[in-house]
Amino acid sequence: MPLHQPQETHGPHPVLMGPHALAHLRRWLAGNTGSKPVFVLGDETTMRHCLPELMGEVPTLGAAHTMQVRAGEASKDLEVCRALWAHLAEQHADRQAVLVNLGGGVVTDLGGFVAATFKRGIRFIHVPTTVMGMVDAAIGGKTGINFDGVKNLVGVFADPVATYVHPPFLRTLGKREVLNGVAEMIKHGLVLDGDHWNQVRRAPLHDLEALAPLIFRSAELKAAVVAGDPLDRGPRKLLNFGHTIGHAMEAFAMEGQQRSLLHGEAVAVGMVCATWLSWRMDLLDRDRMNAVEEHLMGLYPPFIFQEVDQHRIIELMRNDKKNAGDEFRFTLLTGIGSARVDVPMNAAQVAEALEHYRLLARDAARHHHQQA
Ligand SMILES: NC(=O)c1ccc[n+]([C@@H]2O[C@H](COP(=O)([O-])OP(=O)(O)OC[C@H]3O[C@@H](n4cnc5c(N)ncnc54)[C@H](O)[C@@H]3O)[C@@H](O)[C@H]2O)c1
Ligand SMILES: [Zn+2]
Repeated sequence: MPLHQPQETHGPHPVLMGPHALAHLRRWLAGNTGSKPVFVLGDETTMRHCLPELMGEVPTLGAAHTMQVRAGEASKDLEVCRALWAHLAEQHADRQAVLVNLGGGVVTDLGGFVAATFKRGIRFIHVPTTVMGMVDAAIGGKTGINFDGVKNLVGVFADPVATYVHPPFLRTLGKREVLNGVAEMIKHGLVLDGDHWNQVRRAPLHDLEALAPLIFRSAELKAAVVAGDPLDRGPRKLLNFGHTIGHAMEAFAMEGQQRSLLHGEAVAVGMVCATWLSWRMDLLDRDRMNAVEEHLMGLYPPFIFQEVDQHRIIELMRNDKKNAGDEFRFTLLTGIGSARVDVPMNAAQVAEALEHYRLLARDAARHHHQQA
């Protein structure tokens, strides 16, 4: 992209993308921080793999205070916040300080929360380093940590000054983590933009050159939805597609002995179920349903569970803050690239969808087995 200015979206916070995005960050820091302290938060992996590249593009960050947490979901924790608040206080961070969050969704959720609560809020910037971060977690102003075993129980809405999307960071990201984020890109296409779905499903996902423009498009789609509903009171529910069952699957996998599911993998299961329900409710035709199902089943490993587990999965859905009583509210497809929110579903219908997925996964696993 021969742009001298990075591409920019206009929502509650800008998302800057493209080869000149980090040059913009360099100029912003030069103009807005002066002698004020700048902090960089990362996890052990992003500090090793991404910080050198960030420093190369933004040399002034060489003088920043760095703060490192362990890689993984366990860092979205109150004790970790306590340590980071203490560090900011020791280094005399005042309201003029800036925190740069360099990492995946764990670092941006955690760092955003720490910054938003320290001295009633200091400025922060997101520099996502995973596909999940670039197309989803670092956009939209949701920050938070896990508490008492519940994901994202404590948090605030707070916008970064800006989010900088720089795909070359993804060179060191593993294949499974790339696919994890691609699930959200597929979701963006399915509920918002049929062309995007077609491009994502045909793209060679291991090829960063091909993936980068699709990441920009997905980030733009997320930013546009968020701009219309910053506090998640309505239209943002479109982005819940695949998540009603997906969240329950994620929680269920954490309880069991099975190889645990990444968020995007659980959402892929949820999208298969919700696409099937869309067909069952006569909102989507069979050919389209089959196309979505085949693609998702081909891309993600089958998640195996037993028929008796369905009760537990549905029970976990009842615990979800977004569902009320015995009725579940689904976002369903009305086409490829359009969706309807708040479609009521009962437990029997959900069970049918789970059974549909379960049989698909069982067949897919057999098939893999025969091929191996
Ligand atoms: N705030 C939101 O709107 C929102 C949306 C979606 C997800 N999330 C949150 O995001 C988190 C998941 O994000 P994630 O999938 O990015 O997980 P993550 O931050 O844990 O990153 C996944 C793994 O990749 C490593 N990694 C990161 N960048 C790398 C790179 N460039 N090269 C090599 N390794 C790298 C990390 O160290 C980690 O081990 C969850 O906590 C979820 O709740 C938040
Ligand atoms: Zn998600």
